[in-house]
Amino acid sequence: TWTTAAFVEEAIREIRAKVGEKRVLLALSGGVDSSTLAFLMYKAIGEQLTCVFIDQGFMRKLEPERLLKLFKEQFHIPVEYVNARDRFLNALEGVTDPEEKRRRIGHEFIREFEETSRRLGHFDYLAQGTLYPDVIESADTNVDPQTGERVAVKIKSHHNVGGLPKDLRFKLVEPLRKLFKDEVRKVGRSIGLPEEIVQRHPFPGPGLAIRILGEVTAERLNILRDADLIVRQEINQRGLYHDYWQTFAVLLPIKSVGVMGDQRTYAYPIVLRIVTSEDGMTADWARVPYDVLEAISNRIVNEVKGVNRVVYDITSKPPGTIEWE
Ligand code: XMP
Repeated sequence: TWTTAAFVEEAIREIRAKVGEKRVLLALSGGVDSSTLAFLMYKAIGEQLTCVFIDQGFMRKLEPERLLKLFKEQFHIPVEYVNARDRFLNALEGVTDPEEKRRRIGHEFIREFEETSRRLGHFDYLAQGTLYPDVIESADTNVDPQTGERVAVKIKSHHNVGGLPKDLRFKLVEPLRKLFKDEVRKVGRSIGLPEEIVQRHPFPGPGLAIRILGEVTAERLNILRDADLIVRQEINQRGLYHDYWQTFAVLLPIKSVGVMGDQRTYAYPIVLRIVTSEDGMTADWARVPYDVLEAISNRIVNEVKGVNRVVYDITSKPPGTIEWE
């Protein structure tokens, strides 16, 4: 029978046998897969592992800080923090097309990853949080025909885009490759990952950048971060987090008229997107109680400067998508 303890023990043995004395690079994203992976790898090979966290500036409020704190204080695993916020913001200047946004973010990510890995020295291996369903899907895409070994030609964990240069084609260590998502959660829990990571809703690699329609600017990111935090707080406080597949805010790049006190306002609307789903392929808008919607709306309009209206998205998928871009 499968137990987390037996899995962890076996995975550690396997990692050591495979990696030997070599150095391994790992891109931490903050999700359950890469966090569990980092924990296992560090337990297996200690200082031979280098964890890199590239902060694109598109994460939710306080999440980069929380992730770093967790690794530092609870796991005692060193993380190389790369502040790439300006780089990503510059790359998106003037860009409004959703696909172009994704393309540029993916491109910058690969370049940043490349520069960081060169700066930190030579690595033979890349640790990836590939799960069983991913292995099935890309069974022969990353296999070296000579050795049969899986080789990283792309960085999987964030965006599934952008090839690595030939001299940076790492060999892969994928200790989670036999696991399904629910098993990773069990392992993550057993090694002490907090529930907020273990049970986290899906979050897109390009992050808040695809939840700001139109151009992404520092000002809009701040507005969206504050609105998004309120959505999560109100949902969490009421113990509703697990009732939904995703709960988030979207910022529209238009302005409408409102009134606050005796002042006319002219500001952005925020869209609330709260959906139920089994697998993300189809989804339904959640029948969130009116008082919850009311609380979220009141708080956003009162507390977030630059927003004067909140609307609720009542579109299912299909024909809508979960995200707005
Ligand atoms: P849509 O919007 O297509 O989203 O209904 C389905 C699920 O996929 C997530 N999503 C992404 N995840 N990179 C990701 O890693 C992306 O570019 C991306 N776009 C959408 C979305 O949050 C939902 O869970």
